[in-house]
Amino acid sequence: MNATLETLRKRLIAAQQDHVLMFWDSLGDTERRSLLADIASVHLGQLADLHRRSRRDSSSAPGSVQALPQVVKGEDSQADAAARAVGEQLLREGRSCAFTVAGGQGTRLGHDGPKGTFPATPLQGKPLFQIFAEKLLVLERRFGHPVPWYVMTSPGNHVDTTSFFQEQGYFGLQKDHVMFFQQGTMPAIDINGRLVLESDHALFRSPDGHGGSLRALSESGAVADMKERGVEDIYYFQVDNPLVEMCDPTFMGYHRQQGSEFSSKAVPKRAPEEQVGILVLKDGKPGVIEYSDLADDLRDAREDDGRLRFRAGNIAVHGISRRFVERLNQGGFALPIHIARKKIPAMHPDGTVGPVDGIKFEMFVFDALPLAEKVLLMEVPRASEFSPIKNRAGRDSPETSWRDQSSQFADWLESAGVTVPRDGDGCPMHRIEICPLFADSAADVRARRAELPATIEADTIIA
Ligand code: UTP
Repeated sequence: MNATLETLRKRLIAAQQDHVLMFWDSLGDTERRSLLADIASVHLGQLADLHRRSRRDSSSAPGSVQALPQVVKGEDSQADAAARAVGEQLLREGRSCAFTVAGGQGTRLGHDGPKGTFPATPLQGKPLFQIFAEKLLVLERRFGHPVPWYVMTSPGNHVDTTSFFQEQGYFGLQKDHVMFFQQGTMPAIDINGRLVLESDHALFRSPDGHGGSLRALSESGAVADMKERGVEDIYYFQVDNPLVEMCDPTFMGYHRQQGSEFSSKAVPKRAPEEQVGILVLKDGKPGVIEYSDLADDLRDAREDDGRLRFRAGNIAVHGISRRFVERLNQGGFALPIHIARKKIPAMHPDGTVGPVDGIKFEMFVFDALPLAEKVLLMEVPRASEFSPIKNRAGRDSPETSWRDQSSQFADWLESAGVTVPRDGDGCPMHRIEICPLFADSAADVRARRAELPATIEADTIIA
């Protein structure tokens, strides 16, 4: 260990990072070994570059911005039906899988436990993971083939997530078709560019962003597992959107028909000021532009029919071809690294732990868009596909998601002739919850008309 230590110490001194060895003398052998391995995995040169970058203006405003051509779901029912048939065949043959990115820290929601365990439905408070599992069970029942489900966690929530699935009996899914793997982490630095110690023998690390999923899919063996199962396309979605249309056959059908490597769903932006990333062509390449990087005239630009020209709000639902992930990982995986300034818990030289101003690093999945040979953008209605739970209260909170879930169920019931009283804003007066195993679409609800009440007169669970 001595030779290794001395080599490392020299490298650390040259990089002005030798403070990470400040507790060395008081550590036991196991702790020393673990600290050495931790430090050895850090690319010190890259860290210094990232620190330099964090001190420059980080604006990434592109030269030219154009709208990205898109398919609008519901606009051409014949084309949608043809795409749907393709997507359904993929499910029948087990060639589409589900992929949930659940490695985030969920800081804004502040839930005690992984975000996927958050009670998310309006009346029964079913956890997000259960909603997804039930939607997958419906697909299995409908298409006669289990849908492999990959769940990405991170070191901070892996054990809690897998234990939750075990305790809940995988929500009725076959265990063999649910795969978990952990994403990578990145060390953080303080504002002076120095690595942060989390304890006397460990660096502070945080998950490397949802973009890290594209590397973790490969490094964990998930992609190899997909290949063995015959899976060709990945339906990527975030853990916090209970309205996700699971493995949407129409979307995946278009993805396949058009030979897309990386497809994205978008919802029309509510207003020019809405703070959401927009899918566009940046300097001729597909990508996401942050709302703050969209010049005012472009932000406000409208089509002749009055719709915003740049309205494709990114909802982080993607269709990704397995081969594309394989290609991204050949010869070194490289997505841009983004910088986030956050408070970080750090161990000080006196052994106490307290927050310091720091810099965390993460990758974003949509940065893979310009690397794809072919992409597809599909606009979908927000009301039926997107209502994430991100914040404790206010916008994108449990309250807004319960309302949106109830509204969707109300729409389905009304399409089956059920009377649903609504308030002045058009929201259902009572909370409604329909279990996916009872019905997971308007058509399903209509098919079970005989089992429905004539009117919704109180909070109602239909299961
Ligand atoms: P968010 O950007 O909303 O982050 O993640 P978050 O961690 O859930 O919540 P905050 O920002 O701390 O409040 C969007 C999706 O990407 C996943 C999250 O789990 C969520 O499904 N994600 C995010 C990862 O899987 N890994 C990451 O490193 C970051």
